[in-house]
Amino acid sequence: MSHPRIAFIGAGNMATSLIGGLLAQGIPASHIRASDPGAEQRAKVAGEYGIELFASNAEAIAGADVVVLATKPQVLKAVCQALAPSLADGQLIVSIAAGIGCASLANWLGPRPIVRCMPNTPALLRQGVSGLFANAAVSAAQRQQAEQLLSAVGLALWLDQEQQIDAVTAVSGSGPAYFFLLIEAMTAAGEQLGLPREVAAQLTLHTALGAARMASESDVEAAELRRRVTSPNGTTEAAIKAFQAGGFEALVQKALDAAAKRSAELAAQLGQ
Ligand SMILES: NC(=O)c1ccc[n+]([C@@H]2O[C@H](COP(=O)([O-])OP(=O)(O)OC[C@H]3O[C@@H](n4cnc5c(N)ncnc54)[C@H](OP(=O)(O)O)[C@@H]3O)[C@@H](O)[C@H]2O)c1
Repeated sequence: MSHPRIAFIGAGNMATSLIGGLLAQGIPASHIRASDPGAEQRAKVAGEYGIELFASNAEAIAGADVVVLATKPQVLKAVCQALAPSLADGQLIVSIAAGIGCASLANWLGPRPIVRCMPNTPALLRQGVSGLFANAAVSAAQRQQAEQLLSAVGLALWLDQEQQIDAVTAVSGSGPAYFFLLIEAMTAAGEQLGLPREVAAQLTLHTALGAARMASESDVEAAELRRRVTSPNGTTEAAIKAFQAGGFEALVQKALDAAAKRSAELAAQLGQ
């Protein structure tokens, strides 16, 4: 199988996670290039991954099949406008920048195949999950290339409507922080109940890990797993009743609605 040639614009946290994942998948280092304005960052990434680094974005993309836009969203308009004249026909653009829509990218880069992705922070440990949306110009082979790229840092799931990226942002993009909040709250509650802080923290973390593994490795839904561990009149039922009396499900819906709304607002601002 011939491997695609991939160029990263911006060699920061997310790009280097993807680069590490691609190398681990067997993509040769000679097929991966990246550009970054920081001389120190270029030397560090070249040393760590054995790939070629460039100060010039235009030089980095020469001969690439896939161009990955991995800068912060705030600088992406200027990056795209400067890059547009150097793009070759048929090069696939994959953007991982939060909040920048395909229409804005096409305005800045010209009409071309674009895949917009929303990864999340655990991608840094190759335990991420991403939502991907392809515009109409993307071929089946290019969809596979984009999927292979994002699969290097976790699970990659296709969306049929670009608007769903706001929901992905609300569920998985911002999601790690919701679990961190629950971990904080359970640790504090365990401490209140008389446990040393470190013990409460370890109990909470290992429960979170174990529950996530059980839920992801099981054939039944989380609701059924919960029913199975909730005996009538038992301790778990007492806790779940307290959560539900406090409007837990409605609160989660409200929180995710707020995140999705903010995602759409940011997209409108950043995409201008
Ligand atoms: N980290 C996450 O968990 C996460 C999750 C979802 C989506 N994303 C998206 O991924 C993108 C990258 O995030 P990150 O966390 O990897 O950011 P980052 O670590 O700051 O990486 C961005 C890199 O781009 C470089 N850069 C700045 N201007 C540039 C230019 N004109 N041309 C080429 N490179 C340039 C930056 O260099 P300087 O530092 O010198 O400016 C930096 O090394 C963002 O758009 C973000 O929305 C990240």
